[in-house]
Amino acid sequence: MGTGKKQLRVGMIGYGMMGLVHSRAYRALPLHAHTEVVPVLQAICGRDEKRVRQAAEKMGWAYYETDWRRLIERDDIDLIDIGTPNHMHAEIAIAAAKAGKHILCEKPLAMNLEEAHQVLQEAQKSGIVHMVSFNYRYTPALQYAKQLIVSGRLGNIRHVRAAFLQDWALDPTAPLEWRFNKQLSGSGALGDLMSHSFDLARFLVGEVDRVTGYARTFIEERSLLQQPEGVNVPAMGAVQVDDCAGVLAEFANGATGVFETTRIAGGNGLDGNRIEINGDRG
Ligand SMILES: NC(=O)c1ccc[n+]([C@@H]2O[C@H](COP(=O)([O-])OP(=O)(O)OC[C@H]3O[C@@H](n4cnc5c(N)ncnc54)[C@H](O)[C@@H]3O)[C@@H](O)[C@H]2O)c1
Repeated sequence: MGTGKKQLRVGMIGYGMMGLVHSRAYRALPLHAHTEVVPVLQAICGRDEKRVRQAAEKMGWAYYETDWRRLIERDDIDLIDIGTPNHMHAEIAIAAAKAGKHILCEKPLAMNLEEAHQVLQEAQKSGIVHMVSFNYRYTPALQYAKQLIVSGRLGNIRHVRAAFLQDWALDPTAPLEWRFNKQLSGSGALGDLMSHSFDLARFLVGEVDRVTGYARTFIEERSLLQQPEGVNVPAMGAVQVDDCAGVLAEFANGATGVFETTRIAGGNGLDGNRIEINGDRG
């Protein structure tokens, strides 16, 4: 006998780190939350048939596709979940919106502001539900911080201090994956990590009016992922994005902000994500 709950049939593109995390989350959701709908792991998409089939079996997806356009065309899919490298987000999201599919898109939404506006316009035009995976908003600590601010417990907000520090790129032998290629990623730590900090600041404090800042690349070349045959010394390629960035900000409500992000701050693992808010009452 069914539960009577509506099913939301998901089609997920990309089965890397986030594909695994999202798969786990869809499966766990009904166990942890009272939702009106139940996600169904309907179909997963990747380019390599053998690998995508293995990923589907491992993560529990019913079907697989090797072309994301075919996934979007399927009539047994309600939601398109985009977990590919950044340069593909906007194109896939626009195609999904045009096909009337709901969208969950990994951050950063697009490669630039203009592209982001296009995605938003298409999503609004087709009336689907759409969301960027700024997941940290939904952690209990951040929801509680929001309650404290909305209730006036902190008073008028004066300072926002946010840092998202990681260290996986500190190792100079970490290879030149897509995250170091500007055409595939758009930016480095700035878009990858600081986008989360800005999302949290907007969620908690409001819109930002003015910014100034820096971005810096310390490790300027890394070994190519595909090494030519028969060479002893690794062939290297240029890192095209920032390792770290810092921003000073002014919010529309007058609060001041200091933001720092880096992938090369030793001792931080993947989880050095922190935000502090000070108001005139706490
Ligand atoms: N919200 C968060 O906290 C968070 C954390 C990590 C990554 N991300 C975002 O998630 C996205 C994916 O990151 P990741 O760490 O999973 O990367 P990843 O490299 O581990 O996985 C990327 C996946 O995309 C697939 N892919 C690439 N081109 C494709 C194509 N043409 N068609 C179908 N699949 C294709 C790859 O095969 C791979 O499975 C990025 O945009 C990243 O910014 C978000």
